[in-house]
Amino acid sequence: MKRALGVCYYPEHWPEAQWPEDAARMAALGLSWVRIGEFAWSRLEPAPGDLRFDWLDRAIAVLGASGLRVVLGTPTATPPRWMLDRYPDMLALDADGRARKFGSRRHYCFSHDGYRDACRRIARVLAERYGTNPHVAAWQVDNEYGCHDTTHSYSAAARAAFRDWLAQRYQSTQALNRAWGNVFWSMEYDSFDQIDLPHLTVTDPNPAHQLAFRRFSSDQVVGFNRAQVAEIRKHSAAPILHNYMGRVTDFDHYAVGADLDIASWDSYPIGFLSDRLEADAAHKARFLRQGDPDMQGFHHDLYRAVGRGRWWIMEQQPGPVNWAPYNPAPLPGMVRLWTWEAFAHGAETLCYFRWRQAPFAQEQMHAGLLGPDGADAPAMAEVAQVVAEMAALPDAGTARARVGLIFDYTSCWAWEVQPQGADFDMFRLAFSAYRALRRAGLSVDILPPETGDLSGYDLVLGPGLMTIPPSLQQALTQFQGIALMGPRSGSKTDEMSIALPPGPGLPGLDARVDLVESLPPGAEVPLKGGGRFVHWFEHLSGQARVVRETVQGAPAMVRAGGIYYLSGWPDDQTFADIIRDLCTRAGIDPLDLPDGVRVRDTGTHRFYFNYAPDPVTFGGQTIPAAGVVWTEL
Ligand code: GAL
Repeated sequence: MKRALGVCYYPEHWPEAQWPEDAARMAALGLSWVRIGEFAWSRLEPAPGDLRFDWLDRAIAVLGASGLRVVLGTPTATPPRWMLDRYPDMLALDADGRARKFGSRRHYCFSHDGYRDACRRIARVLAERYGTNPHVAAWQVDNEYGCHDTTHSYSAAARAAFRDWLAQRYQSTQALNRAWGNVFWSMEYDSFDQIDLPHLTVTDPNPAHQLAFRRFSSDQVVGFNRAQVAEIRKHSAAPILHNYMGRVTDFDHYAVGADLDIASWDSYPIGFLSDRLEADAAHKARFLRQGDPDMQGFHHDLYRAVGRGRWWIMEQQPGPVNWAPYNPAPLPGMVRLWTWEAFAHGAETLCYFRWRQAPFAQEQMHAGLLGPDGADAPAMAEVAQVVAEMAALPDAGTARARVGLIFDYTSCWAWEVQPQGADFDMFRLAFSAYRALRRAGLSVDILPPETGDLSGYDLVLGPGLMTIPPSLQQALTQFQGIALMGPRSGSKTDEMSIALPPGPGLPGLDARVDLVESLPPGAEVPLKGGGRFVHWFEHLSGQARVVRETVQGAPAMVRAGGIYYLSGWPDDQTFADIIRDLCTRAGIDPLDLPDGVRVRDTGTHRFYFNYAPDPVTFGGQTIPAAGVVWTEL
């Protein structure tokens, strides 16, 4: 698959006379894709039924005439004002019951049937008109599901849909009462119509009720997306994708992705470091202008799985953004580094967000490739450099990694509902495992929990999985490599009760969890030989062989054959040491990378990325700050 670059463009923001020059400049720069349309509903249909496609016809023709391929977005993330007059109850309500009003974007509830029909209709008319347009080469459905905390809605529409969903899942209230344990606190129901959404209760709602609501909300996103996909497919053979986000876990991306052809995500490394990542002040200062060295890689690898091998970056930060608490500029070189890093992880296409900075409205302080007056912004030179380098570097392909990390959305919801310790967070746990792997120089595949075949991997990690699904249990039974599960893996039933007997229930592993404890910041469980557990510790008993111990002599890691179980959450350094040890057992040679350097192997090349703010010397070569180098394998 040939790599390509593109950009996000808003023809409706600029005078039509500007379009040909913009298109020509994009093409001259070496871009081949342009995404348009995803927020343009008020211009496509200024009043109900008054469809105005003439301007979009011309915009697509102008862009296409310059040789650009268009990704056409459905505009459903921004319903126009008249939609609200038609459906006053279409707004999502937050957990306090307040409406999330018109005046920005994503002001809709996924469960509102009238709005869903309106989305189906606008997707259909767009697909009818542009489905065979030679320049429309891909579709984007909606924009960033879940952005601005919009997956969960407590509206009347959501409540009605939730009751239906429960009736289908449980068939009878007796079955639901049993599954949820509603005998506790006299919470039993005798009709599905009595069941409310789990909010505004005096104290905690039942965790099973909360998990059901999260599952339901995720299914609503899947259904909403599927409705538009079905319309587009009737009229177009072009691939359909969605642009997911960083660290948004409140719907099952694998399930949405199953209906799409390609996954894409929106990468804002500097914004994410400041507002979406737990890290100490020194780390945030060191990577202030580069972003966290693992945040991008994690999502690249995750969305490669969501896209079943096919994925893009739909929006790449090219300069300061507007939405984080502070918005520093990228270190010179970082735009190039982020671009090559995405390609090294297998991205087919990377689009920058956005072409020209808008001098008006909410994102006027957000950089583009051009300034608000159309002058080149600093990122331009780096994009030009990447274009030149792409011509010189043949396609490298994505190699299957030797290491897998299982990441599960249901577990994210489970631990959100019942963290047990205020800072127990599934993403954070999976990310700390990923960081340990990447610090050892390993290329990683992220795997969905239903993975039924682990053969081909030498090392697989499955931290924090709420349940071990039967297919994974089976795969682990046959697995020839090393698997590290835990902490907390396999500890619950599918309905969020404690799995009995308490323990991970892994094949051949005789271990019982006698007690779990969560640890506040500053508290730790020191390990013999160095290292520590933080956040979480499980007291284990049983006959499984003990591989590591706490200073007190309690099991910290146990094993049966190649299956290992970790009874706590290691801090970063301890996790790194554990991974090095397991690599040796798995026949993998870990690398000793300088701080901030990451490595990714493709089918033909090894790429080195220096996220550090200073040059580093490694393997006989010096990599400048924010530098990228590659060697043939
Ligand atoms: C993304 C979004 C874009 C734009 C961008 C700003 O989350 O998809 O429309 O708002 O952020 O960084």
